[in-house]
Amino acid sequence: MEKILLKMEHIHKSFGQAEVVKDFNVEVKQGEKVILAGASGSGKTTILRMINYLETPTKGKIWLDGDYIGGHYNEKSEWVSDSMQDLAEKRKQIGMVFQSFNLFAHLSALHNVTLGLTRVLKLPKKEAIARAEHYLNKVHLSEHIKKYPHQMSGGQQQRVAIARALAMQPKLMLFDEPTSALDPKLTNEVLEVMQELAEEKLTMVVVTHEMGFARHFADRMIYLEDGVFIEEGPPEKLFTHPESEKTSHFLSFCGYKEGDI
Ligand SMILES: Nc1ncnc2c1ncn2[C@@H]1O[C@H](COP(=O)(O)OP(=O)(O)OP(=O)(O)O)[C@@H](O)[C@H]1O
Ligand SMILES: [Mg+2]
Repeated sequence: MEKILLKMEHIHKSFGQAEVVKDFNVEVKQGEKVILAGASGSGKTTILRMINYLETPTKGKIWLDGDYIGGHYNEKSEWVSDSMQDLAEKRKQIGMVFQSFNLFAHLSALHNVTLGLTRVLKLPKKEAIARAEHYLNKVHLSEHIKKYPHQMSGGQQQRVAIARALAMQPKLMLFDEPTSALDPKLTNEVLEVMQELAEEKLTMVVVTHEMGFARHFADRMIYLEDGVFIEEGPPEKLFTHPESEKTSHFLSFCGYKEGDI
């Protein structure tokens, strides 16, 4: 049986009076590739940010590989919040790639990747460099490791950000619109790297508007509207035979109609 790596149970999130995620549930199996789709403001980023507790759910629990994130139940079955240290330990298991690459401008590509390895994982420098080179090679940047962010294209910078996250060897990778700041050619470079990672059985939860990519990349697609789960299934099914009119409307808005694929 395939192992469940991530579980989100009855997750709600409010900002002030506004409830932006309403009773969201998901189980992601090890090695599974899941796309979160929905219009702007539907809660996709908020869901990704809750997975690693950059946002705290207002209600509900999140579980990664056997451990709750954000706390645990004690022997009296009471919920005890994680200390900052516990949370940091759990967060190490999750890699995140954002739309803005968030590289350190004053550090080379190599140094951007080794930083977390030496500071967070406490690897010896030599080991950190070897590991960083390995992952920079994986994203096809071996020839650019000495460059600084301003000397690289957007696609190269995003691939450094991916290498940086991968080098931490997380159990789960989250991508939030990793290509939306890139032009089509650079977008393809990044999507190709993501496809290669998918073939290596990495568990990935991805928000993207690249629906052509989503269709062949993902095992499963979840469609959300206004913080509410609408439906899920293999992308093929959502594109061609969605259960909800809402999904059909959204996907046709993205440029896909039945018969296109
Ligand atoms: N820190 C915050 N404070 C208040 N409201 C917030 C905050 N973060 C998000 N929201 C609101 O929550 C809702 C969901 O936002 P979220 O960023 O998760 O949407 P999204 O689906 O990622 O949208 P997009 O496709 O534009 O990135 C929006 O209405 C947004 O304004
Ligand atoms: Mg977003």
